[in-house]
Amino acid sequence: MGKFLSPRLKGLKPYTPGEQPQGGKYIKLNTNESPFPPSPYVFKALEGQAETLRLYPDPENRLLNEAIAENFGLSPENIIAGNGSDELLALIFQAFCPKGAAFADITYGFYKVWAEFYGIDYKIVTLKDDFTLCLEDYRDLDETIVIANPNAPTGLAVSPEKIAALAAEKPDRLIVVDEAYVDFGAESCIRLVKELKNLIVVQTFSKSRSLAGGRAAFAAGDAELIRDFNTVKFSFHPYNLDRLTQLAAAAAIKDRVYFETCTSKIIKTRERVSGELKTLGFFLTDSMTNFIFARHEKIPGAEFYRLLKEKGVLVRYFGTERIEDFIRITVGSDDEMDAFLKALKDILKEAAK
Ligand SMILES: Cc1ncc(COP(=O)(O)O)c(C=O)c1O
Repeated sequence: MGKFLSPRLKGLKPYTPGEQPQGGKYIKLNTNESPFPPSPYVFKALEGQAETLRLYPDPENRLLNEAIAENFGLSPENIIAGNGSDELLALIFQAFCPKGAAFADITYGFYKVWAEFYGIDYKIVTLKDDFTLCLEDYRDLDETIVIANPNAPTGLAVSPEKIAALAAEKPDRLIVVDEAYVDFGAESCIRLVKELKNLIVVQTFSKSRSLAGGRAAFAAGDAELIRDFNTVKFSFHPYNLDRLTQLAAAAAIKDRVYFETCTSKIIKTRERVSGELKTLGFFLTDSMTNFIFARHEKIPGAEFYRLLKEKGVLVRYFGTERIEDFIRITVGSDDEMDAFLKALKDILKEAAK
């Protein structure tokens, strides 16, 4: 630790993003990006826009907020756009956890990092043995509850009805639902923000709308909550989305047909590959996301990760408690998944020798 870092941050353990190798050496199935390009609407919206970069962007992200609100049948005052959901979630941890935060033991690893970064007390709630999240376990808590739904990296989802019941029980306790993967088969809680003032739903454009590199996301909530959220945002980073990203995200959300085509293709590929993996001796969770969370009966996760990488396929290995034996595989294009399956079969063949 150098002498200038705040002593409070001594020992801070940062989030480790998935590897981002430069130059197409690997089939990249490690960070849940979309295998499909952004919508053609996005290409069109960005044409000739470079010269506008001279000017600051709209700090209120108005056109984008309007497009998001329209897509979900909400009002723009229910929406705040963010520079990726990581930005919005970081601000939520900083500003909306007055009594601390509570989240699952196996979930998005960044929650713990933000809690520690901002010095927020947090409670870890253990998932059941089969990795299901039991909302009963959260009933008596006063902390802000943060739920990734579907959860990552387990891929399992809980129903909006159950989340609504939990929210209704304690109107003074905030519930944050991180829906980064909701578009791949789970049910969104977004319509509930019209009724429940203590619910905030965060979605991203990184996965189902093919804009991971653009950094766009939004949170939806009650108008008063969103007003406070804007006060926080304007105290930190008013111009949080650049001009190109605002245009790209607004265009992407307007192209419903493309969105539905891409998400259905991913779901179809996920189901096909899941079936094959089961016949190859893998145990899988019932993923409702664009990734597969899998453990092999004989070969440890760390070994699979290493051998796949040697064969030019990158997957994600966490190596953390309770999930040491699992790897997480992003659902790519059919061709990418066929190459992954071929590498996997070769590994299994070599191991059987
Ligand atoms: C559960 C979850 N939430 C949020 C994010 C952040 O996504 P982004 O910042 O790209 O919107 C991720 C990224 O992988 C994630 O897995």
